[in-house]
Amino acid sequence: MTTGKKPWSGRFQQSTAGDVEEFTSSIHFDRRLYSYDIEGSIAHATMLAGQNIISQKEAKKIVSTLKEILKDIEKGKLKFMAADEDIHMAIEKELIRRIGETGGKLHSARSRNDQIVLDVRLYLRAEIKKIVSLLVSLQLRLLEIAKREIKTIMPGYTHMQKAQPVLLSHYFLAFGEMFSRDIQRLKDCLGRLNVLPLGAAALAGTGLPIDRSRTAKMLGFTEISKNSMDTVADRDFIAEFIFAASLNMMHLSRFCEDLVLWSSDEFGFVEISDAYTTGSSIMPQKKNPDVAELIRGKTGRVYGDLVAILTIMKGLPMTYNRDLQEDKEPLFDAVDTLKNCLTIFAEMIKHMEFNSVRMLMAARGGFSTATDIAEHLVAKGVPFRRAHEIAGKIVAYCLGNKKRLDELTLKEYREFYKGFNLDIKNIIELDKAVNMRRHIGGTATAAVLKRIKEFEKDLRKI
Ligand code: ARG
Repeated sequence: MTTGKKPWSGRFQQSTAGDVEEFTSSIHFDRRLYSYDIEGSIAHATMLAGQNIISQKEAKKIVSTLKEILKDIEKGKLKFMAADEDIHMAIEKELIRRIGETGGKLHSARSRNDQIVLDVRLYLRAEIKKIVSLLVSLQLRLLEIAKREIKTIMPGYTHMQKAQPVLLSHYFLAFGEMFSRDIQRLKDCLGRLNVLPLGAAALAGTGLPIDRSRTAKMLGFTEISKNSMDTVADRDFIAEFIFAASLNMMHLSRFCEDLVLWSSDEFGFVEISDAYTTGSSIMPQKKNPDVAELIRGKTGRVYGDLVAILTIMKGLPMTYNRDLQEDKEPLFDAVDTLKNCLTIFAEMIKHMEFNSVRMLMAARGGFSTATDIAEHLVAKGVPFRRAHEIAGKIVAYCLGNKKRLDELTLKEYREFYKGFNLDIKNIIELDKAVNMRRHIGGTATAAVLKRIKEFEKDLRKI
């Protein structure tokens, strides 16, 4: 089977085979770039007229028709098919269908090689802004919870073993820090991608007298690419974004992993609302944290997108190669997945109830204030290594006698170190231990409240 005439068919004697057309077509996924493609073409046509490469009248006709095409695509009136090849060809073909020869002037001083990079940059610029705003909403939600749970003490873990008591708010703010780095990374990425590629044409630039500064200004680009070959060959900004998305997903995934554990009967720290859990088709008693599990699973999928783009790039000879068409599906997938996960995660955590009693009980076990005993001794002048040993012996004694640290008498404490006085009773209280850690970054209530305030201030600036 062969197909219709192509805009580039001048040097061809035969038309493209149908299966090749199917195989090479990208319209089914790059159609989502239509509004950016049109935005870019409008700026390009305007610049061409400003430089007398086309007439003002022609530019006007092109621009108004492109706007009509945009409306028609939005209304679903324009249907694309594989033979359209890609979104650039589809729109140009439609333009020429509507205004004839004049439409054929739009592609002057331009190649699809610089056009596609333009579209993707415009698309990703808009998407990053949306993702940052989702992250800001999530941060605000974390802060709400941190404020609400400011009195809740939980066991902090290392090696998945109870380590030291911390505030649940401190735990929430830990993720707040991760997400704020995600925001910074995305903003960095935005800074580097906001560069005008148009003008590079196929790879060498154009002999026509274009004005790249004008196009950049119209499209809101802060910089203009400096090397035409690099411009069409480069996809760093895509890899960089997917890497930032991967880290962001990893943070969500770790959060979800804890929530999966915490919602188990064994932990019982949290109850995820019915609306954000699902049942089992066989076990009537089950309430599963599927949303959290799926976010964890989808993290792997975004890592896959990252590996895909890095692998697509690694062996490409300079400059543009059709392999680069494969950059879009991983990118779109990473954007969609991250946006979905951020949205549903923020809703899920809004509908969670923490069991502060269970958390407190758990924090009481595991001798989680043993370090405080050692630090108390250090404050009395005992070298830390010695203090560590004394506290360790006290723990061993408790284990041997099936007692908790708060169940030992002062007399028993003095068996290990004569200088202990009644203060020791205070030291091993959980809230005391928490509130001793008042320095920057510590879990004391005062330090956490201060960090919440700073966070709120920072978020207002974004
Ligand atoms: N659909 C192509 C892509 O996504 C557009 C560029 C095609 N350029 C070319 N010389 N065939 O990369």
